[in-house]
Amino acid sequence: MTHAPYLRLGVNIDHVATIRNARGGRHPDPVRAAKLAVAAGADGITAHLREDRRHIRDEDMARLKAEIDKPLNFEMAATEDMIAIALRTRPHAACLVPERRVERTTEGGLDVVGQRSLIENATKTLAGAGIRVSLFIAADRDQVEAAHAVGAPVIELHTGAWCDALAAGEDDVAAREFERIRIAAAFARILGLEVHAGHGLDFATAETIATLPEIVELNIGHFLIGEAVFEGLDNAIRTMRAAMDRGRQNVKAA
Ligand code: PXP
Repeated sequence: MTHAPYLRLGVNIDHVATIRNARGGRHPDPVRAAKLAVAAGADGITAHLREDRRHIRDEDMARLKAEIDKPLNFEMAATEDMIAIALRTRPHAACLVPERRVERTTEGGLDVVGQRSLIENATKTLAGAGIRVSLFIAADRDQVEAAHAVGAPVIELHTGAWCDALAAGEDDVAAREFERIRIAAAFARILGLEVHAGHGLDFATAETIATLPEIVELNIGHFLIGEAVFEGLDNAIRTMRAAMDRGRQNVKAA
């Protein structure tokens, strides 16, 4: 075992809002879930204000900022509208994600290479307001390099392809995807980037990814909210924390 930095858990509460919106009204309240998550050990709260407002809404973001005493990570597309909302909300961090209206969730990483000036401008504007910018990218060397080149201090590596391959029992694909994540995380650290990871993580995959010492934050939503149906949100978060801590104890030397 080698020493690795503390691994933060950001809890994404989008899908509490999904359930609320299924019936309209105010219940269940994502801000109440965020407070509960913090009490259970979340190090931060993440929420994605999508263009179509399918889960989190503008007033949720404002209330999260006002009522939560842990860092708020605002996931958003790099559009003028979203940047204006982020500048008003002043979250601790903004994670820029690609967004397509028809997708069920954020399906791929941001194409920083192909959209360099758009991402660079958004990064500068948000950073100028004191917001820590993170770019959600695939574990791809070119995207890591581009993220560094546009001046983002943080990247979040997309773990979805790895988690999907594991869930499908495609062990060879999963092993290759994990290796990509490992290499990208190590390369990003060499460039001086802070490395986060997220998408599709559950107890087992969070424990595994915690063995990568370069990764210092995981953002996890859908699995935790689903698990909360059976175990309660408090228990789900405590079990996740324990899984991450177990993984951290098995950090391998790079
Ligand atoms: N990180 C980012 C950038 C995301 O877009 C999402 C999904 O909103 C997550 C993490 C969380 O993914 P999941 O809900 O699958 O845990």
